[in-house]
This record gives sequence, structure tokens and C-alpha cells, in this order.
Amino acid sequence: MVIKLYLTKWEEKALAGEYGSILALAIKVLVKVGEALGAERLIDISHAHISGISYFNIGDAGLEFLRDIAHSNYKVKVFTTANPYSAACIKQFIQFIGIDNCKKQLEIIQILKNLGIHRDFTCTPYIIKEPRYGEHLAWAESSAVIYANTVYGAKTNREGGPLALMAALVGKTYLAGLHLDENREPTLLVELRLTKLNPMLASLIGLNIGKITQGSIPYIKSNVHLDMISIKTLLAAIATTSDTAMTIIEGISPDAKKYCSYTSRLEKIIIDEGSVKYERDELCSEPDMIFIGCPHVSLEELKILERELGNKKIKKPIWVCISNSIMGLAERMNLVNKLKGLGVVFAPNTCFVTTPLHKIGIKCVATNSGKAMYYLPKLAKVKVLLASLRDLVKMAR
Ligand code: F3S
Repeated sequence: MVIKLYLTKWEEKALAGEYGSILALAIKVLVKVGEALGAERLIDISHAHISGISYFNIGDAGLEFLRDIAHSNYKVKVFTTANPYSAACIKQFIQFIGIDNCKKQLEIIQILKNLGIHRDFTCTPYIIKEPRYGEHLAWAESSAVIYANTVYGAKTNREGGPLALMAALVGKTYLAGLHLDENREPTLLVELRLTKLNPMLASLIGLNIGKITQGSIPYIKSNVHLDMISIKTLLAAIATTSDTAMTIIEGISPDAKKYCSYTSRLEKIIIDEGSVKYERDELCSEPDMIFIGCPHVSLEELKILERELGNKKIKKPIWVCISNSIMGLAERMNLVNKLKGLGVVFAPNTCFVTTPLHKIGIKCVATNSGKAMYYLPKLAKVKVLLASLRDLVKMAR
């Protein structure tokens, strides 16, 4: 194999198989992708994040691949986290989804834990370890990638799940794309002219921005305050309808000031309430499931849910997808018990979007997440209703 990319002595040995076949495979994949993207060398990363760990996404072929890695007894070389898994083993679902599917999901989780991956499975890895400005990461999970680049100024490309796993095993990635400063400049100005904003509206706006900004790096200005929950849902939605892996948000992104004067040269798109539309066939109006937490909820979102519920019990449960870390924090504040008492059901470490909800008999899911609205019909095979948290609480009553 002729290698054009510069390799250190250790990398050469790894590629030659001196440290085992799994490491050789992992570094070969990184080198090949790096060469295809014009990288000169590999760089160290401090954190890898793996996506695609639902058994319903990767199937038996993916499980077989993970078993091969498991047999090598290899461990990840850097701090590594992984996305949430399917809800196949939740006790209310298991009889419908099947014990075999649950067992396979558990096996995937165990393999990842044995590889040394963090026990918290979440699509918000930045709450486990906050990235630093300029830090090189190899993250999969589009909503986390765009958040890391935009909010922290960390550097990660939008990796596929397997490539992020390879990077975790090697502790390196290729120096190309968003790891290079010259590729992180804004290419489009998006001006939000709004009268109000909530996370659901931010989701809708994000889906629209994504459709317009395919492949570009939007510099986003807003005339209304963007709170961190709205930013999370906005970014997740942009990354849903586009391959955009980074934006620059005025007042939020560390590099926003650097590019502020530069924006007058950019093509400008104005988004107001009138231009925010999202039409699709799979809409419904009578939800048989209500869920929040796509991406996983923050503590702040739980506190808002508590406020909206206002000590009144709900008739229909509100399911909450959440990371172990936030669940632990909320437990210590007695928030979990309080919300459970009001009818909220927690699904730690899981993702409903990658769970075949139709098998449980669910036909219509109400959520406040634009990303979930986009993917639920495709992956969970259900219809969707997008609503604000306040309206979701009303539905649950
Ligand atoms: Fe997270 Fe699943 Fe949504 S991984 S971002 S809850 S689709």
C-alpha cells in the first residue's frame, strides 16, 4: 500500500499490524479517508463520540463487526462516549419489541463498555466533558458535532459512527475539513427577524435553515435572545436537513467577533415567522405517545417541565429521553421523584427515534423536537405532531 500521508513511526508500525489487526484496520481506515480528503497527517484527539449503536440501526452485520473488535480485547485510546441506544429493553416495550432484540441491544452496550467507552450513553456528550476552544475531537452524531463546533469552538468533522470508533481505537483523526482554520469561515449570513422564540420554533427554523444552507457555514444573527435550549434544538435541526457541521452564532460562538465585519460580504438570507414552514405527509393530531429529549434533555429543560406541570398530575405520560449524568443531577435535587409523581416517565440513555415504536402499537408521537419530527416517520415508523412543551403538557392533561 502506497501511503501519501505523513505517518509517525508509531503510526507506521500500527499500520503494519505490529500492535494487532484491529488497530491496523482502524488506522488504515483513517489514513484512507484522510488521503481522500487531502490530509497531510493524522492528529491527536482528546475525545471520540460514536453514533449508530441502536441494534435497529446497525443490525446483525454491525453487531458481528463489534463482536470481532471485542474478541481482540482492545480498548479505546482516548476518552470516548457513545450515543443513546434503542429503547428495546424498556419494561413496557420489551414484550412487543422482542426479547431477542433486547438481548442484542444489551450485547452492543456491553461490548462498548468493555472497549472502555463511558457508561453514559447520550447524544449530548458535551455535558459529560465540555470541549475546550480549538480542541480536536472525532465526533459522530450530527447534533453534537454542530454544537461542539458552534458553541465551544472545538474542532470536529461530522464523522460516521464507524469512523468515530476507528478514531477512538487509534486516538487520532485525519487533519482535514473543520480541523483546519481556513475551513471554518462563514459562507452565508442568516438573519433571524422574529417576535419570539421557543425551542419548538427554533427547531422549525433550524429545519428551514438546513434546507437553505446545504454545505455552507452560516453566520447567524438574531434580533431575539437565543437561550441555550433553543440553540441546542436549532442546531440539531439544521444538522438534520443539511450536512452542515458548524455555524457561527453572534454572541455565542467564540469566533463570532472575528467574523463580524466579514459578514457584509456574504450572501444574506432573512428568516421571519412567515417563512418558517415545514410540511410533510406524516403528520397526525391524536398522539398516543408524548416525548421530549431529542437531543437529550438538560437540567434546565427538566426545570421548565416542572414549572409547566405546576404540581398537577398528567393523565398521559410524558416520556423523557435523558443521559445518566443529568438524571443523576436531577435525582439529587429530588426533581426526578417529583416529576415521576406527576406522571413523567424517564428513559435514561435511550433514543426513541431509533426504536421501532410502531411495533408497540404507537401510531402518533407528539414531540417538541424538529429533529425527532423529521426522523420518527422514517426510523420509528410513526406519524408525528410537533408542539411546544406547554402544548405537550396540555395534551398530557
Ligand atoms: Fe439523540 Fe436520538 Fe434525537 S440520538 S438527537 S434522541 S435522534
